Amino acid sequence: MTAETDLDWIRVCRLDELPTVGAARAQLDDRIVSIVRVEDGSVHCIDDECTHGKVSLSEGEVSACTIECWLHGSRFDLRTGEPLSPPATVPVVVHTVKIEGDDVFVALTEEN
Ligand code: FES
Repeated sequence: MTAETDLDWIRVCRLDELPTVGAARAQLDDRIVSIVRVEDGSVHCIDDECTHGKVSLSEGEVSACTIECWLHGSRFDLRTGEPLSPPATVPVVVHTVKIEGDDVFVALTEEN
């Protein structure tokens, strides 16, 4: 496991620039991600593109700790990236988030 201090953190936005509950799209380096705040106040980051089709997950509906793809309705767990319902079967990549003061930082997960 990588220590938090070893990660390459990118400052994304201020916390108050995110919806209270919902997703915002961001480009970090050459990666398009969804930054998602959920009802319990926690913030998550996943790749923005649905693994079933080439649509933006940040346009989907957020509920509990999941986001639903607007096109065919697959729901993804924001903590693990796992699809919880079909038709998607492949997880989305999850990135690491930390909040420092009012700022949201993300460390991108390298794809294998
Ligand atoms: S494009 Fe997302 S579930 Fe089909």
